[in-house]
Amino acid sequence: MGSHLSTTVAQGRALMNLIDGKPVDALSGQRIDVACPSDGNVFASVPASGAADVDRAVKAARRAFDAGPWSRTPAFERGRLLTKLGLLVEKHGDELAALESRDTGKPLRQGRADVAATMRYYEFYGGAADKIHGDTIPFLDGYTALTLREPHGVVAGIIPWNYPMQILARVAGAALAMGNTLVVKPAEDASLSTIRIAELALEAGFPEGVFNVITGYGRDAGAALSAHPGVDYVTFTGSTLTGTAIQQAAAVNNRGVTMELGGKSPQIVFADADIEAALPYLVNAIIQNGGQTCSAGSRILIEKPVYGQVASALADRFSKLTAGPHEADLDLGPMINAKQRDRVAGFIAAAEEAGVPLLARGSVAHDAPSGGFYVSPALFGAVDPAAAIAQEEVFGPVLSLFPFEGEEQAIALANGTEFGLVAGVWTNDGGRQHRVAKRVRAGQVFVNAYGAGGGVELPFGGFKKSGHGREKGFEALFDMSATKTVVFRHG
Ligand code: NAI
Ligand code: MG
Repeated sequence: MGSHLSTTVAQGRALMNLIDGKPVDALSGQRIDVACPSDGNVFASVPASGAADVDRAVKAARRAFDAGPWSRTPAFERGRLLTKLGLLVEKHGDELAALESRDTGKPLRQGRADVAATMRYYEFYGGAADKIHGDTIPFLDGYTALTLREPHGVVAGIIPWNYPMQILARVAGAALAMGNTLVVKPAEDASLSTIRIAELALEAGFPEGVFNVITGYGRDAGAALSAHPGVDYVTFTGSTLTGTAIQQAAAVNNRGVTMELGGKSPQIVFADADIEAALPYLVNAIIQNGGQTCSAGSRILIEKPVYGQVASALADRFSKLTAGPHEADLDLGPMINAKQRDRVAGFIAAAEEAGVPLLARGSVAHDAPSGGFYVSPALFGAVDPAAAIAQEEVFGPVLSLFPFEGEEQAIALANGTEFGLVAGVWTNDGGRQHRVAKRVRAGQVFVNAYGAGGGVELPFGGFKKSGHGREKGFEALFDMSATKTVVFRHG
């Protein structure tokens, strides 16, 4: 079965849900076309699952958790299975990179970077599975108290379309390491790598029912999954609005949630910074994946003495950026779909109409297919901190520049949105590095770097509207488990 689904993907045929280790269609038989964002052409289809399919998948995951061999599988064995899955990802790396790149339109090298990070997640959580443990607690005379770290049970993972394979890996890696079972609902716009990875998990030896996939629209399959009483914990990455809806649905059953909800992440450039070293990071943080990244560095705060210098260096770089089809491997690919393209183009048009100075515009490759969803990068500055492009998550290649005077104003501007996911600080003043890192409200702060290399090992998550709970790193294992306290009275 290992190469079966990948062959059907290549041939553009109908893909299936994976429930209880078996490929199954939606009970309704309804399907969603899978299009390549580079040209808009349909090349496969996935089931449009509904509540009845979700129920089947949750029941399979429930059985596997309650009664299957999984519940008796020791931690080191769970870790070994994850490690095997990582090796299978590596072995099928070219195929997975091409698949992800075609499904999402991201440049091929980003598809390869996603494969490398995916492999690392399974490797990391494979190694971590048997290295997390509880405590013994000093208590009353005549007692021994200890804690156990237990899985939640059935974990529902609702995955977005921007980095589907990586985000699945950080969810599945941590959830399976702790002994949960999984029902994953990938985004309707990018489901293929999720189906393929679940298939590789079966090949690695995960028991049937441990790793289930149901594809479908958010309003149908996603909503049914977050409200299902058989789900014990929900983890979500995506838009703030959908995050609120999912929390409300999960609240009906009082279930715990992890929410990773995007941002408006600032990079602060002080006058003493090594500007030449900063420039490639400042550009890449908003251009990687076409800016469709929750941790995209979409605001640059620049100290006044170097504002002109940094703005013109960025304008020079922006005017040379080119968007094109994924296989051309240019600076950026298309947006994921027509709706996202229109959203990003709408933000740019509205800013221009409002008189926000446009400093530079990149281009779209002249031979890019006309059916693709391209937007050329846009650089704005100086932007009013109250403007829509200064406050809202655009999720596209749109960068805003803001001048500031002194540390206090930099911190106020950095913290001046509803989000708090990531921040970058560029300065060679050691004291300032520490002060600013502490005062910026963001789940990750990079000093003289940004988003360094994916950061599988680094805890990640938001403050404020960027969400709550932490993924990645060892810390994710705490979110994916619950503490049980056991007290013995022995006299
Ligand atoms: P979305 O947040 O609606 O979609 C993400 C996932 O949630 C998909 O799997 C979708 O099927 C599912 N979903 C949608 N509605 C649901 C519901 N009611 N119940 C359960 N699941 C549901 O994001 P969308 O609509 O694709 O993109 C809109 C905007 O969201 C983007 O322009 C961007 O600003 C933001 N976004 C942020 C992401 C991030 O990584 N922070 C990822 C994707 C989108
Ligand atoms: Mg697609």
